[in-house]
This record gives sequence, structure tokens and C-alpha cells, in this order.
Amino acid sequence: MKLRNDPQRFGAIALLFHWLVALAVIGLFALGFYMVDLGYYDPWYRKGPDLHRSIGILLFITMVLRLGWRFISPPPAPLPTHKPWEKISAHLTHWALYLLLFVAMVSGYLISSADGSSVAVFNWFSVPSVSGHQTGLEDTAGMIHYWVTWAVIGLAGVHALAAVKHHLFDRDDTLRRILGLSPREPSRISTNTHHPS
Ligand code: HEM
Ligand code: HEM
Repeated sequence: MKLRNDPQRFGAIALLFHWLVALAVIGLFALGFYMVDLGYYDPWYRKGPDLHRSIGILLFITMVLRLGWRFISPPPAPLPTHKPWEKISAHLTHWALYLLLFVAMVSGYLISSADGSSVAVFNWFSVPSVSGHQTGLEDTAGMIHYWVTWAVIGLAGVHALAAVKHHLFDRDDTLRRILGLSPREPSRISTNTHHPS
């Protein structure tokens, strides 16, 4: 498999980014809800948020690299069998996911640094606070973080269902492409482009 995307297929780097980000986002969402309910004496009371923040900052760096790579190596063209409304809604969904993810990560960072403290990423490095101590910022950012992460998961769910719909009902290669699988045999694609007489 090639590293770069080509006009028909995703390359290995875009595939790796897609699935790494999907895994991290679902993991952070689950960890987020798990950790906020822990009691003070639970061993994960500190470890949970430390891990959540560290992975969250690494995700931010990954997303910047991913967007950079998208610029260098644009994604393949939509499949010719996609209807105009599907192309438009896929496009809007993908950009909404990028935008919502950045709002989720920035609001998470603001919750964590609203008292002026820096955010440690494992024991590797830490990101200083840009806001300094700001009264009320933690609560506002917390509310945004809560709703935006729900929006990310909701939209990603619709997005995944759309991919499954393409696979099972339209029987096209949308899902196969993001899994790095080769296209189906032409005879199995249900299109009207071929008319044997
Ligand atoms: C949190 C989870 C996920 C996020 C944030 C996410 C995000 C994205 C984004 C931003 C793109 C556009 C890539 C680009 O063109 O730059 C994309 C493409 C795609 N994703 Fe996901 N995704 C997630 C999970 C999934 C899952 C679970 C599936 C399948 C069941 C899936 C199927 C696809 C497919 C098929 C494409 C390519 C669409 C096309 O060819 O137009 N995604 N995803
Ligand atoms: C896409 C990435 C992220 C997702 C999906 C996510 C998800 C979540 C969820 C579901 C919660 C629980 C919400 C609640 O009940 O209040 C949470 C809480 C939290 N997240 Fe994130 N998060 C992400 C990124 C980040 C980042 C980058 C940081 C910090 C650098 C961060 C810091 C926090 C903090 C401090 C809390 C606790 C808030 C509280 O105590 O109410 N998150 N996150």
C-alpha cells in the first residue's frame, strides 16, 4: 500500500490518522465520563485525568499533523456513484468533525489551565497556560467541553452509520476504502453504468 493518497484510494498515512484519531476520541470520551465520577480515594482519581489530558494534547498535535498531511496529500475523490446530496453531507460532516474536535480539545485544555497551571503530557513535556488564572473560565470551558464532546460522538456515530449504509445498501467501496481494502469486483457493484444488451 502506498503512503500517499491517490485519486482513487486512501494511502497508509491517512488511514493510520483516521483510525488512530477515532480510537483516541472514543477512548477519551469513555475515560472522561468514567473519571469524573471517581471518588477521592480511588487510585484512578488522579491517574484518569492525567491520562485524559495527556492523550488529549497528543491528539491535538496529531490533528494538526493530520490536517497538514491532508494539505500535502488530498483525500481521494468521492466515488462516482455517490449522489450530490451524499457528497455535500459527507463534506459538511467531515469539516464539522474537524471543527468540533478542535473545540473539544481547546476547551479541555482551557478547563485544565484556567487556574494558571500548565498541562503535563505524561512526564515528557508540559504546555503552559495561555489564560493565566481566570475566574469562571473553568466552568464555561467545562460546559462547552461537555456539550461539544457529545456533539463529536453523535456526529461520528451518524458518520459511521452512513459508511455502513454505503457498504450494506449501496454496496459501494466507501467503507472498504477507509479500511484500506481493495475495491469489490466490478460485477458486484450495483451501479447502472453498465448496460449489457
Ligand atoms: C470518533 C470517530 C471518528 C471520527 C472523528 C472520524 C472522522 C473522519 C473524518 C474527519 C473523515 C474525513 C477525512 C478527510 O477527508 O480528511 C473521515 C472519513 C471517513 N470515515 Fe471516519 N471518523 C470516525 C469513525 C469512523 C468509523 C467508526 C467509520 C466506519 C464505520 C468511519 C468511516 C469513514 C469513511 C468511510 C470515511 C471516508 C469517507 C469518504 O470516502 O468520503 N469513520 N472520518
Ligand atoms: C476529542 C477529545 C476529547 C474528548 C472526546 C473528551 C471527552 C471528555 C468527557 C466526555 C468528559 C466528561 C465530561 C463531564 O462529565 O464533565 C471530559 C472531561 C474532562 N476533559 Fe476531556 N475530552 C477531550 C479532550 C480533552 C483535552 C485535550 C483536555 C485537556 C488538555 C481535556 C480535559 C478534560 C478535563 C479536565 C475534564 C474534567 C472536567 C470536569 O471535571 O468536569 N479533555 N472530557
